Amino acid sequence: MPSTNPDYSEVELVDAEYRILKALLAAGDNFVSGSRLAETLGVSRPAVWGKLEKLREKGFDFEAVRNRGYRLTQLPTILHPALLRIAQDNIGSEIEALYFPVIDSTNNEAERQASFGRSGPFAIASSCQTKGRGRLGREWYSASADNLYLSVLFEPNSPAQQLQHFTLWAGIHICRTLQELVPSAPLKIKWPNDLHCDGRKFAGMLTEAKMDADGIKALVFGIGVNVNSNPMDYPAELRSLATSLYALHGEELSLNEVAATVLSAIQRAFQSCIENADTEPLADAWAPLNALEGQFVTARMGDQEVSGIATGIDDSGALLLRNEAGEMTAIRAGDVTLKKTAP
Ligand code: BTN
Repeated sequence: MPSTNPDYSEVELVDAEYRILKALLAAGDNFVSGSRLAETLGVSRPAVWGKLEKLREKGFDFEAVRNRGYRLTQLPTILHPALLRIAQDNIGSEIEALYFPVIDSTNNEAERQASFGRSGPFAIASSCQTKGRGRLGREWYSASADNLYLSVLFEPNSPAQQLQHFTLWAGIHICRTLQELVPSAPLKIKWPNDLHCDGRKFAGMLTEAKMDADGIKALVFGIGVNVNSNPMDYPAELRSLATSLYALHGEELSLNEVAATVLSAIQRAFQSCIENADTEPLADAWAPLNALEGQFVTARMGDQEVSGIATGIDDSGALLLRNEAGEMTAIRAGDVTLKKTAP
């Protein structure tokens, strides 16, 4: 289905591309014969050649050797619907993902698709957002195709209470799964919605919900992850505040694999909230990932400010701040900034 906004078009998953790439990727460094590819696709060998030429135009390259066949020598570095599907297959993530090279906001497109009848769950992935948005009306830098812009729409039809910790659990699952990809960088969560490493943000989450009297009808969870971008290329005001997985790891990651991994973590967080399946208490899961632990911070809620030492979250998801007198305040919503030193 094209976007319901005529300014944007989806690049659809082409089944022949998916099957060719799956066979070539599974073969690794080995060649796959032209006749096997022709058989896999149910087409003639010249038709296989035609399909490979089409893939070449999209950033793939192949080595072709007479009597041996083909092998992949180059993959595009940005998102590609067939590579994303294959990466999802490899880790058992079933959620349908639609890919738009350019979109205003993946959260907006998820809502548009739902309003025109697409049933959740489904995901919208993009390489560039023209109106990427963050929390509290902020803009989300979305110009680099080396980053990930992803939203998932769920239709929980369940009481809001069941999903009140969804974003916190999503942060926990995503942080854990990305940590496996960049083992040497300590990834943390800055309450409530930011993923950080050594004081710099590399991902932000934005959850939006449509409710009625019976509960949540639609939940749109959006995440932007700085994956392979170079922070030197960010707008000046972000350079000292933001980082990327590439900068942390020192090597580029497969964007399609990162997208599949994040999708599967989001699905896990959703299932565990709906099925009440998390055996570990929220506060315990959060503790080792808490970027604010022991830091002197100020929380702003509208025109109110509370400062104190951050000492984890409670099981309701509230951030706990201890003041000089040892009194605890639970912060349920707001924006938190770090102070360099205690007063
Ligand atoms: C924040 O840190 O303030 C949250 C940032 C959320 C950005 C993501 S990118 C994908 C999705 N689409 C948007 O417009 N925003 C979210």
